[in-house]
Amino acid sequence: MKKIKAYINGKWIAGDINYPIYSPEGHEAGTAPALNKEDIDLAFESARSAQREWEAKTIDERVQFMLAFADKLDERADEMAHIMVDEIAKSFNDAKTEVVRTSKLVRDVVAEYLRIYQEEVTFPKLNKDVTIFRKALGVVLAISPFNYPINLSVAKIAPALVSGNTVVFKGATNGTLVGSVLAEIFDELKLPKGVFNFVTGRGREIGSSLYTNKNINAISFTGGERVGKEISDHASMAIQILELGGKDVGIVRADADLDLTASQIVKGGFSYSGQRCTAIKRVFVHSEVKNALLSKVVHQVNRLTVGKAADNNFITHVINKSSADYIMDLVNDAIDKGAKPLTEIKREGNLIWPIVLDKVTPDMRIAWEEQFGPVVPFIEVDSDDLAVELANKSDYGLQSSIFTKDIDKAVEMAHKMEVGSLNINGSSQRGPDTLPFTGVKNSGLNIQGIKYSLETMTRTFNIVVNK
Ligand code: G3P
Repeated sequence: MKKIKAYINGKWIAGDINYPIYSPEGHEAGTAPALNKEDIDLAFESARSAQREWEAKTIDERVQFMLAFADKLDERADEMAHIMVDEIAKSFNDAKTEVVRTSKLVRDVVAEYLRIYQEEVTFPKLNKDVTIFRKALGVVLAISPFNYPINLSVAKIAPALVSGNTVVFKGATNGTLVGSVLAEIFDELKLPKGVFNFVTGRGREIGSSLYTNKNINAISFTGGERVGKEISDHASMAIQILELGGKDVGIVRADADLDLTASQIVKGGFSYSGQRCTAIKRVFVHSEVKNALLSKVVHQVNRLTVGKAADNNFITHVINKSSADYIMDLVNDAIDKGAKPLTEIKREGNLIWPIVLDKVTPDMRIAWEEQFGPVVPFIEVDSDDLAVELANKSDYGLQSSIFTKDIDKAVEMAHKMEVGSLNINGSSQRGPDTLPFTGVKNSGLNIQGIKYSLETMTRTFNIVVNK
């Protein structure tokens, strides 16, 4: 059991009331303070007061803080991974990979910032020398999701801090315990008070005070569409980077390499039990190869290990009961309407065995709604055009994949797809972290990524010398 505190203006706050955080496996993983609106306001005021001085530090001082932070992430990677095993049921190996990926991300953010923070432009004919600086926006609110509680937090925090912004950070309910380690590290590194604030709390106490505070200059949020839209409705003049989910498609043409395609679908659809916004959530497969592909997929799925995260299983408990119930509602709706499960339908608590559904049709909810679980529905199509048309009917547009040996055809189809990234012969994924990560429609707003987050969290400022 990990009992954590919030961290505001360089002080640890125990809070009068603490709330339990339950592991997806059912036991209490820890507690966190239920902060109130006044605490949240104090966090933003502290961030505001600290900002000018933080931005006035030399670039080297800020860079050194961030590099020391990256080193600490590496040092504490095992500890953080163990917390994640308990708190979000991510297997130890995946959790540790996440932390290591994140320390690299911080170093890449630093390198990119050093590349872009100042640009010299000369206009000899106009007798002007211009320096374009990148200045901080002010206070950044960072809100991360449960599935990458370290990587998707630091992907927001690192670009904000290195460029001279101050931060108020809130993790998802599950993800808060491991998120507190970030505050511990900044405290240990003696980051000036108020520069990084870590808040905790339940929606009913904090309400909208988190994202309506007048001190916020930018919001970087990854999470559900409902909350994302609510944030956006209240964002006023704050810059927003929102990443809100997806319903990624894998289109399989008749000429696809079926072994490769099957492995990518299994990896893309079932990693971390399907709890990734870039997971393959629908497969549109050409009739000619459907049965051959399905038998390869089912063969691999039946070999996936299922059970506790601590035992490094591939399929682990989904995050909570309402998520598990929702996943099963969609599966049952599909089966009631004629879909055929090719794997055993089995659920124990929040543990759902991987499900491959054949004969899924567009009238089924699972063809459209984003479930965060280990379920991949297969929809048969008889043309590329139909596959693209159905893919684009989604309210989401994060990523998608096309599997084929005809790369020219795939590129032609790719340009017709309404998504932020199209993968040819590979499953959807956000990484490498240097890539721009964005979606269209309900998948989000603006771009996350090392260079792109740095650009969005800063403004340009020109000094023009007229000679
Ligand atoms: O679900 C969040 C999303 O950012 C997934 O990232 O690295 O699993 O593709 P990744």
